[in-house]
Amino acid sequence: MSEFKRVLVTAALPYANGPIHIGHLAGCYIPADIYVRFLRAQRKDVKFIGGSDEHGVPITIRAMKEGVSPQQIVDRYHGQIKHSFEQMGISFDVYSRTSSPVHHETAAAFFKKLYDDGLFEEKETEQYYDEKTHTFLADRYIIGECPHCHNPNAYGDQCEKCGTSLSPEQLINPRSALSDAIPVKKKTKHWYFPLQQYEAFLKKWILEDHTNWKNNVFGQCKSWLDSGLQSRAMTRDSNWGVKVPLPDAEGKVLYVWFDAPIGYISATKELTDKWADYWCQEDTKLVHFIGKDNIVFHCIIFPAMLKAHGGFVLPDNVPANEFLNIEGEKVSTSRNWAVWVHEFIKDFPGCEDVLRYVLCANAPENKDNDFTWKDFQDRNNNELGSIFGNFVNRTFVLMHKLCRGKVPALHAGKLDAKDEAIIADIQAAKNKVQAALENYRFRDALYDVIDLSRKGNKYMQDKEPWIIAKQVSADPEAQKSIDNCLHLCLQLTANLAILINPFLPSTAKKMLHMMKVVDKMLDWENAGKLNLLSVGYSLRAPEILFRKIEDAEIEAQIQKLKSGSAAVATTDAPTPEIVSKAADNSSLKPEITFDDFAKLDLRSGKVIAASKVEKADKLLQLQVDLGFEERTIVSGIAQHFDPETIVGKRVVVVANLAPRKMRGIQSNGMILMAEDAEGKLVFIQSEEAVAAGSKVS
Ligand code: 2FM
Ligand code: ZN
Repeated sequence: MSEFKRVLVTAALPYANGPIHIGHLAGCYIPADIYVRFLRAQRKDVKFIGGSDEHGVPITIRAMKEGVSPQQIVDRYHGQIKHSFEQMGISFDVYSRTSSPVHHETAAAFFKKLYDDGLFEEKETEQYYDEKTHTFLADRYIIGECPHCHNPNAYGDQCEKCGTSLSPEQLINPRSALSDAIPVKKKTKHWYFPLQQYEAFLKKWILEDHTNWKNNVFGQCKSWLDSGLQSRAMTRDSNWGVKVPLPDAEGKVLYVWFDAPIGYISATKELTDKWADYWCQEDTKLVHFIGKDNIVFHCIIFPAMLKAHGGFVLPDNVPANEFLNIEGEKVSTSRNWAVWVHEFIKDFPGCEDVLRYVLCANAPENKDNDFTWKDFQDRNNNELGSIFGNFVNRTFVLMHKLCRGKVPALHAGKLDAKDEAIIADIQAAKNKVQAALENYRFRDALYDVIDLSRKGNKYMQDKEPWIIAKQVSADPEAQKSIDNCLHLCLQLTANLAILINPFLPSTAKKMLHMMKVVDKMLDWENAGKLNLLSVGYSLRAPEILFRKIEDAEIEAQIQKLKSGSAAVATTDAPTPEIVSKAADNSSLKPEITFDDFAKLDLRSGKVIAASKVEKADKLLQLQVDLGFEERTIVSGIAQHFDPETIVGKRVVVVANLAPRKMRGIQSNGMILMAEDAEGKLVFIQSEEAVAAGSKVS
């Protein structure tokens, strides 16, 4: 590390199309912030760059769904996301946005330089086009069946189920994500970046020179490089984004994954006039913190772009994390299966450090991991409260009781083996934590900090100063043993404040206040020292560092998650029907008897006609052939299916449900639907061979 003069740390720019959830924090923002705080404590020259990614399909789709402009969407969420980061103590030096003029200029100039150097291939190809919405369907505008795992809802750039990267042409039965229409092919011109020309460079740079990258990152890069790189279009047909800076490029913008990483450069420009020192000097260490779905863009495409442009440093490391699941299930914004950061802050005010702790202690560093509310409670109550907080509290209480509220002297001649052992533990902790942090092993580093407090508790328990206190009147020398114990416990507390500071900055601040010392004490060089608090210095009364989290609070959160009643400002705001269906997945309804079940008359049916119900966005009127009769059934699925696409579908019908009027139309039954992993509705279909009207049981 010492060969670098300055460090530039970036954390992925979140799409400003919805609030952030704790998966985002665990994926990259908490580790990045810990790393930056650790570097700052060492007085390194470091800049921490962040901002909102305000272009691309997720934003335009959201805008279209809500019937507002993309600018309105990003304005709404940029502010909210920035605020959530501030509340969580994510200490960016700059938090910018890719809609800023500086970014548009920087990204356009970057593209123009590659263009002027003749590095793009200009190609006219046929691409899928939605004639209903007049949109070319690239990336997430197009959905279809994954050719690998047969997920019916894979996107045109990636299947989120099996992780394979795709192109729209690979999708089976493609459809428009905007209108569900079957797309047609139409000619369009784009500028392609020939990634294959950088393959040799990337192979050497990653597979030979960066074997120290995390296994999950290295492995993904290797598999991309082994399967061969291809030209990638770096422009799109859209009006939202950075305009392609060429005369014949009306209606074309830069591909979001071309412009977004350049956002790191633009944000640095906004931060400092010296931005070029950070981006263009070889002695800068550039580190990108990201989640695993961003690996290819940060390890392959962006470095190739930087190399092609010339004059920029390349990342020294890209410590990507895997994904954080919630209560055993994948985060799903469409199903509202997520813990939203702004909601957490509202529900647990003052517990931001606890969330930082849990998300670091349980970080998905090498594999996907699970967040559970019970684990959150246990770690707060049993680790932060009963170990770390308890040690600090006991030390202060006993110092006030047995040492008159002042730092007692250390009597060197009276040190026993236990005192010597805890001194060695204090001195060893710094190196352990430092080595882990320098190698991006944040969980291990945090474990070592808590372990030091665990050792402090054991030391205090073994020394029993409160028992020795009973002997002092008969043997005044015994006070020296008490003094030594409390002196060392106080120095240990000061050390804990330094070591915990990168992880739990508000807690470290509270500890400083109790010790009546200034921020400077938290400098990393002070860790391991045993003279941080001066003898005779009087200290404040202890504060409770971590309050107990009660069962009822945890129950309430689990209920909130299950009932989907968390804030609904999500990427694909679920309709109320879907939210309640999602809840049914995880909380079973009360048991029923066989007789109850037998009351249901389930029949196989065939949809023979379907149309929208006027003035009801969610309702479709279906004609269903049940063999023995045709029925009208009104179903709340209009936002999921175009009427023409479901004619001919074999469905399962609850045939003896009491008729019900909806928007003036009598509905005579109900169609059974299921929800797939993405929260999309699919029909529970009966086989072609099963005649309409057959019983289903
Ligand atoms: O995956 C995402 O959320 C992207 N918005 C990350 C972009 S990171 C960088 F390149 F800007
Ligand atoms: Zn797949």
